[in-house]
Amino acid sequence: MVIQNDPTRNLALELVRVTEAAALAAGRFMGRGDKEGADQAAVNAMRIVLQTVDMNGVIVIGEGEKDNAPMLYNGERVGNGSGLEFDVAVDPIDGTRPLAFGRSNSLATVAIAPKGTMFDPGPFVYMNKLAVGPESKGMIDIEKPLIDNLKAIAKAKRKDVEDLTTIILDRPRHNDIVAEIRKAGARIRQIPDGDVAAALMTAQPNSGVDVLIGIGGTPEGVIAACALRAMGGEIQGKMYARDEDELNRGREAGYDFDKILTMDDLVSSEDVFFTATGITDGELLKGVRYFGSGASTDSLVVRGLTGTVRQIRATHQIHKLRQFSAVKY
Ligand code: FBP
Repeated sequence: MVIQNDPTRNLALELVRVTEAAALAAGRFMGRGDKEGADQAAVNAMRIVLQTVDMNGVIVIGEGEKDNAPMLYNGERVGNGSGLEFDVAVDPIDGTRPLAFGRSNSLATVAIAPKGTMFDPGPFVYMNKLAVGPESKGMIDIEKPLIDNLKAIAKAKRKDVEDLTTIILDRPRHNDIVAEIRKAGARIRQIPDGDVAAALMTAQPNSGVDVLIGIGGTPEGVIAACALRAMGGEIQGKMYARDEDELNRGREAGYDFDKILTMDDLVSSEDVFFTATGITDGELLKGVRYFGSGASTDSLVVRGLTGTVRQIRATHQIHKLRQFSAVKY
């Protein structure tokens, strides 16, 4: 039976203003070496514009616990309170270091999903991730040896393992994984930061990236899950404890570090909205450009229910915005 309803509201089209504002505010900090200042600017801008969105939102995933950066707090209410109830995940800057040092691939992102549907990792900041695009959806299993996953992805994409490009954060904790990928013969891109962009690239046609592997932030994992859910890809994860003490604290708090976090565990609803705006130039999105009286931004706007992915290039008249907006553009 075909159900025909009137088109419903796409909140991602409102949320893009949130990530645009964060990117415009934080973009000023490119190369200044001031991570904290950049984070503060992005958080302030995000907080202000989030209040205009028609939703009754609660931050489930706020960033900052990892490095005491400025943040939107877990439990903080956001939105104008008039709409439906949503869990909200924010990463005002994914790639604070690249932004501070003028490198590529830093983004502002936000994701929302119906209340109670997002995974709450509590204070536990890292998870092991395996993320792929639509062609390899349903083919991966984070419990299996890496070589089996690479073979399954290669089969799904009708390539040889040697033709696959894996992407992984360049961290000493990944030395063994890198050795394993090399042994399998797949290609490797080691990135300094930014595994949200990396996860999205697996689902982006022609990005040349087949699979994201390795340990990164849990907030970034949940945000990537929201985006991949909508873009037809898949991410699996497992919480990762840095030491025995963290493992014990997690267990006491009721977390199971052995459990596979499937897409449904990370975000159980299809009705997700995700937006990202480039801050510095990257392969996924262009960074903010400032010119005379204005600036331009490049954003990805994604809705889970319909699977619509929009790329929005916007021109902002900053001299006009400054006349009435509380955001420091
Ligand atoms: P921030 O910019 O929010 O610090 O995150 C950057 C990032 O590279 C994420 O993309 C990634 O998930 C995480 O840091 C990895 O953590 P770490 O730098 O501690 O290895």
